[in-house]
Amino acid sequence: MTDAELVAAAAAVRERAYAPYSGFKVGAALIAGSGKLYVGCNVENASYPLCVCAERTAIGTAVAAGETRIVRIAVITDTEPPASPCGGCRQVIWEFGPDAEVIVASVSGLVQVTTIRTLLPAGFDGSALLR
Ligand code: THU
Repeated sequence: MTDAELVAAAAAVRERAYAPYSGFKVGAALIAGSGKLYVGCNVENASYPLCVCAERTAIGTAVAAGETRIVRIAVITDTEPPASPCGGCRQVIWEFGPDAEVIVASVSGLVQVTTIRTLLPAGFDGSALLR
């Protein structure tokens, strides 16, 4: 799957975002270690701290399907420049994909490609705990 196809999958699921409070719809699509595609959107709640980001929805779906590795993840928003994953999502991407490519895109067509290592230098991981 090309980066453009991955962004298209993120754009499609973004339409399903449940964002009545912020109005800020986010879509995410990832390629897991198996090569399969998983998608997610943000899911808000009237109790604001319970809102779940699109990235974490997609990652949770992948893990529930038996995946443990993220190879690439695309995130799309209606902003220019494209919005980057929040700090919490960077940490969750890092858990499953320290070598992951991160593609950020805007619905207007802007696309930027980076890596989770760039977005989260010196990320915290299980090596500190599993000693
Ligand atoms: N949001 C995401 O889905 N991903 C991010 O990386 C940043 C923020 C969502 C959460 C909330 O529903 C809305 O965007 C506004 O913060």
